[in-house]
Amino acid sequence: MQIATQFTPLSEVQADWLIVGIYEGEDLPADFAQLDAQLGGTLARLKQAEDIVGKSLELTPLRDCKGIGARRVLIVGLGKRADADRAAFTNGIVAAARSITGKQLARLAVALTEPPRGIGWEDLAVAAAVGLLQASTGPGLHKREQDRFAPKELCLAAPSGPVSEVQRGARRGAVQGKAVLLARELVNTPPCDLYPETFAARAVHVAREAGVECMVLDEQQIEAERMGALLGVARGSDRPPRFVVLHYRRGKGGRTLGLVGKGVTFDSGGLSLKTTEQMIDMKCDMAGAAAVLAAISAIAELELPVDVDGYLPLVENLPNGRAMKLGDVLHTRNGKTIEIHNTDAEGRLILADALAYAVDQKVAHLVDLATLTGACMVALGVDVAGVMANDDGWRDRVLEAARRAGEKAWPLPMFPHYSELIKSHVADMKNTGGTRYGGAITAAKLLQEFVGDVPWAHLDIAGPAWAEHESASQDPGGTGCFVRTLVELARLYAEA
Ligand code: BES
Ligand code: MN
Ligand code: ZN
Repeated sequence: MQIATQFTPLSEVQADWLIVGIYEGEDLPADFAQLDAQLGGTLARLKQAEDIVGKSLELTPLRDCKGIGARRVLIVGLGKRADADRAAFTNGIVAAARSITGKQLARLAVALTEPPRGIGWEDLAVAAAVGLLQASTGPGLHKREQDRFAPKELCLAAPSGPVSEVQRGARRGAVQGKAVLLARELVNTPPCDLYPETFAARAVHVAREAGVECMVLDEQQIEAERMGALLGVARGSDRPPRFVVLHYRRGKGGRTLGLVGKGVTFDSGGLSLKTTEQMIDMKCDMAGAAAVLAAISAIAELELPVDVDGYLPLVENLPNGRAMKLGDVLHTRNGKTIEIHNTDAEGRLILADALAYAVDQKVAHLVDLATLTGACMVALGVDVAGVMANDDGWRDRVLEAARRAGEKAWPLPMFPHYSELIKSHVADMKNTGGTRYGGAITAAKLLQEFVGDVPWAHLDIAGPAWAEHESASQDPGGTGCFVRTLVELARLYAEA
């Protein structure tokens, strides 16, 4: 979906709704003066009376406006300017737009005014555009009666903004927002519809649209590639696995950024069966793969001058008669063996083979994304991804990309002694640490056995990939998290 830009005074913006953000404890921005004059000074009076404060996500609708181009104005609080980051702005726009997209709108506009310190106009436009798109689609894919409607037209109005920066931001935001929606949709698709074969088919389609090379390995080809750990997990399901490889080439040659995403289309736990409460949301266990696919499609649409590979191991984790058993030993692609102590620790098994495959493809840097451990949610809460790496410089680059994207990620330590916990008596390692403590890190330590010397960072997105509850600025269900971080990372990668 395109996002238009407009640089006229706000009073002239034609729209069903015009969303304007205000900061707490500040006068109304100069760009609002003329709009408010036409409204007879309503905004200033509401502000004066403290009926509008500007507190984060405070919403004040003004309906039936006369004398301006917009029929209605929606004022959204953005909190204190000093605290405002990109996420604050996106969240404000999402909260405002979500509250009015229950009806079909012809035109929805957002006013952009002077950004907070440290945020450029282009980034402000990106944040607004992504927010508008996020709010245009809800999780109700299968409702007979839709409860969310994408506005026919979306517009960013920046009366005093630099034209080319705002236009660039609108375009970049439209592409990134679309990619976030793709990732959300994939995560929200029920597991009866999205399984390895259908996910792979969708990847082929998305790649073709974006002009990205895409190859799908079937079960025999996965066997030929000696991915014994991936096959061990896949054996428990009647549906065959797939392994998707994406190649995007537009760099100056040389280094390739490898992105690996966990693609468990449903995680029952296998023989180490989950309870209903633990299993209910486990269609989200392919959020890493969805993020990688969506990000690469956005990177291609933005024509970023980089070389990026995507690797998506796709399986279902189910307990049929051929399912892997506790005590089984799996032979991975790089020759190392893994003893199974818990069939529910399946993500690290498929990632082990995928990472080893990526290393064999000679990628220069690696990032994997995985809804890997409940332990990471215990450590950091549900909104923050854990970052674990074998290289501090590369880890910091990934953290910087997350900061630029307005997504929350935080480092966890990788001291050598954690490796002791995954030692096995019969194989090179076992697939759990044997204790809940440090579970996010022992999982990462297993992954590290498969990346060789390649600088690698692992994002455990078990928390942020899925929103259990609805909030003002977030729909319940798949979140599309870390798509934007990966796009920012590719932008950084293109620079140096
Ligand atoms: N997919 C789960 C992790 C998960 C949990 C993601 C909650 C999102 C929300 C993963 O495959 C898993 O089951 N991990 C186990 C590992 C344990 C058996 C060592 C866990 O975290 O309990
Ligand atoms: Mn599991
Ligand atoms: Zn899982």
